[in-house]
Amino acid sequence: MSHTSHPRLKVKQALSSAGPVEEVQISGWVRTRRDAKGFSFLEINDGSCLASLQVIVDASCPQYAQIHDYTTGAAVRAKGALVASQGQGQKWELKAAELHLVGAADDSYPLQKKRHSLEYLREISHLRPRSNLFGAVFRVRSRLAYAIHQFFQERGFVYVHTPLITASDCEGAGEMFRVSVLDPVNPPKNKDGSIDYSRDFFERPTYLTVSGQLEAEIFALSHGDVYTFGPTFRAENSNTSRHASEFWMIEPEMAFCDLEGDMDLAEEFIKHLILDILDNCSEDLDLFGKFVDKGLHDRLRFVLERPFERISYTEAVELLQKSGVKFDYPVEYGANLQSEHERYLTETHFKRPVTVFNYPKEIKPFYMRQNDDDKTVAAMDVLVPGIGEIIGGSQREERLDRLDAALEHHGLDQEDYWWYRDLRKYGSAPHAGFGLGFERMLMFVTGVANIRDVIPFARTPGNAEF
Ligand code: 4AD
Ligand code: MG
Repeated sequence: MSHTSHPRLKVKQALSSAGPVEEVQISGWVRTRRDAKGFSFLEINDGSCLASLQVIVDASCPQYAQIHDYTTGAAVRAKGALVASQGQGQKWELKAAELHLVGAADDSYPLQKKRHSLEYLREISHLRPRSNLFGAVFRVRSRLAYAIHQFFQERGFVYVHTPLITASDCEGAGEMFRVSVLDPVNPPKNKDGSIDYSRDFFERPTYLTVSGQLEAEIFALSHGDVYTFGPTFRAENSNTSRHASEFWMIEPEMAFCDLEGDMDLAEEFIKHLILDILDNCSEDLDLFGKFVDKGLHDRLRFVLERPFERISYTEAVELLQKSGVKFDYPVEYGANLQSEHERYLTETHFKRPVTVFNYPKEIKPFYMRQNDDDKTVAAMDVLVPGIGEIIGGSQREERLDRLDAALEHHGLDQEDYWWYRDLRKYGSAPHAGFGLGFERMLMFVTGVANIRDVIPFARTPGNAEF
């Protein structure tokens, strides 16, 4: 049975066949085998969909004598007729005429039938994609990425590849991973004893980017509507279920757009993605609804059907203070909203996604546009039930004098931002954008509670296996 003479049919195609087929060939991994008198059932999964294809093997198949080699985890190829299933639970099954053991798996294969904890499965990230749950998670991840591109491409946004290695700290939080080829044991030094990065690879200090925004702004002011979608890195030492050190972010940036338009796009975008996943990943979503989060479908539908609540930061603080709830962190004007506050707003009070806007300038980065009150900037965060902040964005400061004041206020050097300032000198225009955390969106649509379980190989403090 050669590979080319008979193209392999995906299990997904086989299971949605319009009628019986005389001869098909499928390849995949054995999930289970059940032996009866005179025949065996193999459940074969090839990752194309959640369901496995049932293969019936009896004495008419020359390999039936070796059926005991076809163990859970083995890679196999099966050729035969696709016929209507007599049994419950599937429409089609394969009656094997020929079997081939492509790669055996002995009984030390860790994914035997019993259920494993998510923590254990993280330790075998090289095998967990073969489980039902992670098979589903990573199919949805792939589809979500596609839906994101589709959303922007259909609206005429240009996809910009912003650099991963950068010299600027967009968010100003100092949470950057340094990129250097200097000898850590014996680096070149300046006279004052500090490390001389002018002798480093890029002849200056460089880092992995925390955001593609500043470069996206450049392209918004040439191409109008643009977006980036790529990996970003944060060296923040927060060991939570919602923080990863390497995560993917989607950042649209729009010229001639204000905060209002930015919030509108964010809401339209999130709803579009939910609808797409409901439409295209229903089988996988049903699994999550059954085993991961019983309220998943209701919550997704609920979010689709209602407008997001919009309140200012000032109103949010008042509302939290009046709530009578005893929070771990106090609520006071001028402090960042903590996750418990965000979740109170979205889960308990409004019971729907909430967009909080106009934050105090002290707690936001230098690039956000000053409001006329001189106290707040045109920032917005979208909060969703179960997660809290899923989007952070703003209208950008397009006025050079205000930008310079903000740079000074944040202790930043005008010279380091010469190109960013140039954009305000030459054809400046109001513009706005936001960043959606890709993994947080995946957590939202799957109900999976830990970010480590929606990214193939999680990078978190102390963890870089695989
Ligand atoms: O709010 P953030 O820090 O905003 C920015 O980086 C802006 N430059 C975006 C922009 O306006 N273009 O991050 C945006 C989103 C957050 O709302 C969150 O969903 C996600 O990125 N995020 C993380 N996701 C996983 N792990 C982390 N450590 C994250 N930090 C932020
Ligand atoms: Mg944020």
